[in-house]
Amino acid sequence: MAIDSRESDHRAAAVPGDGGLPLLGYTAQFISGKLTTSRERYDRYGPVSWIRVFGLKVVTAQGPDACGEVLQNRSHAFGSGAGWSFLIGPFFRRGLMLLDFEEHHLHRRIMQQAFTSDRLAGYLEPMNTAIADGMARWPAGGEIRVYPTVKQLTLDVATRTFMGAQLDVGADRLNTALVDCVRAGTAAVRFPVPGLRWARGLAGRTALERFLYPHLPAKRAGDAQDLFSALCHARGEGGEQFTDHDIVNHMIFLLMAAHDTSTITLTSMAYYLAKHPEWQERCRAESRAVGTPTLGYDDIDKLVSLDLVMKESMRLITPVPGVMRKTVRDTELMGHFVPADTYVSVNLYGVHHLEEYWPDPERFDPGRFAHDRREDKVHRNAWMPFGNGVHKCIGLHFAGMEIKAAMHQLLLGYRWSVPADYQIPLDWSSLPRPKDGLPVQLEQL
Ligand code: HEM
Repeated sequence: MAIDSRESDHRAAAVPGDGGLPLLGYTAQFISGKLTTSRERYDRYGPVSWIRVFGLKVVTAQGPDACGEVLQNRSHAFGSGAGWSFLIGPFFRRGLMLLDFEEHHLHRRIMQQAFTSDRLAGYLEPMNTAIADGMARWPAGGEIRVYPTVKQLTLDVATRTFMGAQLDVGADRLNTALVDCVRAGTAAVRFPVPGLRWARGLAGRTALERFLYPHLPAKRAGDAQDLFSALCHARGEGGEQFTDHDIVNHMIFLLMAAHDTSTITLTSMAYYLAKHPEWQERCRAESRAVGTPTLGYDDIDKLVSLDLVMKESMRLITPVPGVMRKTVRDTELMGHFVPADTYVSVNLYGVHHLEEYWPDPERFDPGRFAHDRREDKVHRNAWMPFGNGVHKCIGLHFAGMEIKAAMHQLLLGYRWSVPADYQIPLDWSSLPRPKDGLPVQLEQL
């Protein structure tokens, strides 16, 4: 079966695919993440195919060429805002990723002022303090569950580097509000029913707004170094600046973008370092060689092995497994005709697991990113956990800095392990997370 091909009046081929079950389509597989983590459809239909999800036809791009074509968006046909709005629009409306074309370009240029290397260096100190304070509350030994523990840590980091203040009251509420917004994206019931995901997401959005708006006047008036203040003072080349609503919208999106993704990456790194103690020791030796309890901005590049482990962990457990677009007009994708108003899902996880590009793809092998191998260079889109094209993650250096700063302190403070036969059970229903929280045995050094 083929999507509305219009082959008769269009030279491009129809998109192959099938709708799945009557009424339900592939909604259950989409929600569970099975469509993302399996290559069955890629083998059956190739890099471009269609499915039915939530009653909508969705074209799926798989493999580095198809994904790259959508993300590079040379045809200006793939809208990000329209694509993401269906999943997360009510909760993260007018965040940078939900803007498009000219407007996106302008907002991105203004926001870039909050991510210059000077700004990043300024965020590192409060980041280090938040990490040290957080870890000081960890037990000296015994079992901890990594995911919730790290999630608390990254929330502390985000609130301190974003807000510039310690959030003693309200941190839990903020965390819950953010998590509710993220999880609402894959709600099966997509209208507000009290107690269900969608309603909780809307309540979360309101809580975040109520929290942020009252801080605006002081942030605008002051000259603090936090990200909130940076957004208040950022100017485009023509002097353009964000309105109060822009700042709140961007802050809510940034809190989400920074918080969950870093948590997932740190959790998967902790997992692989526990499974591969030789890499844990190698990373620890490099951190010890730096010679300081916290990581300085100029020391980040010294943690070479940690960088390899981070890249390989993000390949294997891709923190944002897929991204969404919607065609704003008729277009072609890899020679297939895709009509206007079609949702397009870009499978980043899939690209990272194709054996055509990654030898022995399920094996943890950080050395594949080392200078003498550079397997990621086999294709310009072979490794893209931060996406690609105009919407490529604006926070990738912020993320790398946070992850390495946290891992540096963790490696110096603790050794951790899992039983030899332990395999992390992942829930892919929104962003990946371990169903069991990832229990590890901790030993203070
Ligand atoms: C390991 C951590 C992170 C991962 C894996 C990640 C991943 C991504 C991906 C895949 C996209 C592209 C989405 C698309 O094309 O639709 C993206 C966009 C974005 N990310 Fe990240 N991200 C991370 C951390 C961060 C951090 C720390 C921040 C901010 C402090 C951030 C802010 C953003 C923003 C604002 C966008 C939208 C960019 C645009 O539309 O121009 N991210 N991220």
